[in-house]
Amino acid sequence: MSDAAQDDRAFKARTRAMWATGDFPRVARETIKDVGPTLVAAAGVRAGQRVLDVAAGSGATSIPAALAGADVVASDLTPELLEAGEEAARDAGVELEWVEADAEDLPFSDASFDIVLSSFGAMFAPRHLIVADELLRVVRPGGTIAMANWTPEGWVGQFFLTMLPFMPPPPPGALPPPAWGVEDHVRSLFGEGVSELTFTRQIQAVDHFATPEALIDYYRENFGPTIMAYKSLAGDPEQTAALDAALMDFAVRMNLAGPGEPARYEFEYMIVVARRAA
Ligand SMILES: C[S@@+](CC[C@H](N)C(=O)[O-])C[C@H]1O[C@@H](n2cnc3c(N)ncnc32)[C@H](O)[C@@H]1O
Repeated sequence: MSDAAQDDRAFKARTRAMWATGDFPRVARETIKDVGPTLVAAAGVRAGQRVLDVAAGSGATSIPAALAGADVVASDLTPELLEAGEEAARDAGVELEWVEADAEDLPFSDASFDIVLSSFGAMFAPRHLIVADELLRVVRPGGTIAMANWTPEGWVGQFFLTMLPFMPPPPPGALPPPAWGVEDHVRSLFGEGVSELTFTRQIQAVDHFATPEALIDYYRENFGPTIMAYKSLAGDPEQTAALDAALMDFAVRMNLAGPGEPARYEFEYMIVVARRAA
């Protein structure tokens, strides 16, 4: 195996471990609960359509698509999240297919879906052009690709930027995930492969943390990327204190509430809807 292939395999294993750490299904349920239904509506998912959700995690978008009557395949790199999704789907009374898959190498035939969805998922694979080509390959001509992507300037984009200096470096050539929230970048990725491309900024309101401290504690306990950032600093009290300070400064700076009010945040994301050229 080449060095590049080995690096890629190691990065994917780290990615899988990171998203399996903590309780991402809880974070999805509690902080981005409106996004799946919003994306499913933006994509125009209808009963009987064959739909693929890429990097589906625990099904935040796949399950609403199945509830709309579509025939859904939920795929993700992290089997632990797919298992949580399967359980959530049972509770919701819908059946989906759950498939372990890398967004950069989807195990599906060309043109095999009417709609391909991804909420804050495909954006995390390092090689954006390969991902865009895979999304275009598996959707049928005239079919729809619909994504919800964090913007670089929004809350989550800035949260990852705050943690970046404290995290292991990405593999060479990896592009930053929130670039998928930038119109020009997405236009250049899909290029001639699409006949229509629309962008809509959306806000997910997050207002159930009493204080900025409570928010940071929650992410430290439940959110894999934050837990892993702290883990990688274990044994380095100075860097750990620096990360504490950077996150607290961030949580205070982004709080939109007035003095004495419960903390209030707005998570901005970009809905991208693309039609594959016929
Ligand atoms: C922020 S979570 C979003 C999950 C889900 N779409 C949602 O909206 O809750 C990011 C997801 O991307 C997945 N992921 C990261 N890199 C991936 C890759 N290369 N291929 C497939 N899934 C990937 C992770 O396993 C994780 O489930």
